[in-house]
Amino acid sequence: MTRIHALGHYQPEQVLTNDELATMVDTDDTWIRQRTGIATRHIAKEESVADLATAAAGKALAASGLAPEQIGQVIVATCSARDRVPSNAARVAGRLGIPDAVTFDLNNGCAGFTTALATADHTVRAGAASHALVIGAERMSEVTDWTDRSSCVLLGDGAGAAIVSHDGPADGIGPVVWGSDPSRAGAVRLEGAWQPRFGQEGQTVFRWATTELAPIARLACERAGVAPSELAGIVTHQANLRIIESLARQLKAPDAVVATDVVHSGNTSAASVPLALAKLVERREIPIGAPVLLFAFGGGLAWAGQVIRCP
Ligand SMILES: CC(C)(COP(=O)(O)OP(=O)(O)OC[C@H]1O[C@@H](n2cnc3c(N)ncnc32)[C@H](O)[C@@H]1OP(=O)(O)O)[C@@H](O)C(=O)NCCC(=O)NCCS
Repeated sequence: MTRIHALGHYQPEQVLTNDELATMVDTDDTWIRQRTGIATRHIAKEESVADLATAAAGKALAASGLAPEQIGQVIVATCSARDRVPSNAARVAGRLGIPDAVTFDLNNGCAGFTTALATADHTVRAGAASHALVIGAERMSEVTDWTDRSSCVLLGDGAGAAIVSHDGPADGIGPVVWGSDPSRAGAVRLEGAWQPRFGQEGQTVFRWATTELAPIARLACERAGVAPSELAGIVTHQANLRIIESLARQLKAPDAVVATDVVHSGNTSAASVPLALAKLVERREIPIGAPVLLFAFGGGLAWAGQVIRCP
């Protein structure tokens, strides 16, 4: 019915190391690696969210072999974009020569990409478009409080993109599990009238992610008719290596390749799942057609995930 047809990813050139961060705030490489697994992150100097999104989307479009005219929907999942109107999706469409697609941005924090993927999947299933372009793109460095050591060490910039097409197998993109818990809406924040800054209650989020999310991820598998033990890949939101490893352990998927792009990219919010997936696919670490769990979570507190067949 639907499938992820092609992927693309892009990160800005500049790499910021833990040692460099230690010259900016009171931190050190050992603390960051032990608590988060992160070694480096990419930081955009000049590039906007639309620039990052266009770079990743252009690669996905080229890899798909489709003509720009065939794309009927463009969604950019982002929470860090400075520009609101025209939407970043409209900018991407303009730059890639996509003439008349429905274009809009979607903000569901770090769960943005998988939420957008489900939205595109539903659009294509309903016959409202034959091919959709779904992008997660973030310039988190622009909304980072560079004086707050508890959060500035976590974040990074980048983009990942996927083409969703109508000509896939029945289980090419599995049913989504998605939802949110408004009682903990304040646990991750990006607030402020003109200059929003990232903030969070790290331990609240850590406990939530490591105790409550595995059953929801299992539900995505159940809805797709795939036992967790059959998963060939697990691509969760890349927030923290310990969270990733905990989720993978709880899912009991011994043969699954577990994405750990957080080590090199930090937390790129809505960009993290498509970035990590695109890299795994590029390195051909997962066989084509094998089941892969995508599972993102974050501010809201919100989650969205689905089992896809590896493109
Ligand atoms: C953010 C996170 C890495 C912090 O790790 P933690 O083990 O919970 O650390 P704490 O916040 O309890 O802080 C422990 C100590 O380290 C200190 N600390 C915080 N950041 C530090 C840093 N970068 N370098 C050195 N010390 C730091 C704290 O001040 C605290 O010191 P204290 O004990 O003297 O008060 C962790 O809570 C986490 O990953 N949470 C989940 C976040 C997440 O996934 N967010 C997703 C958002 S989409």
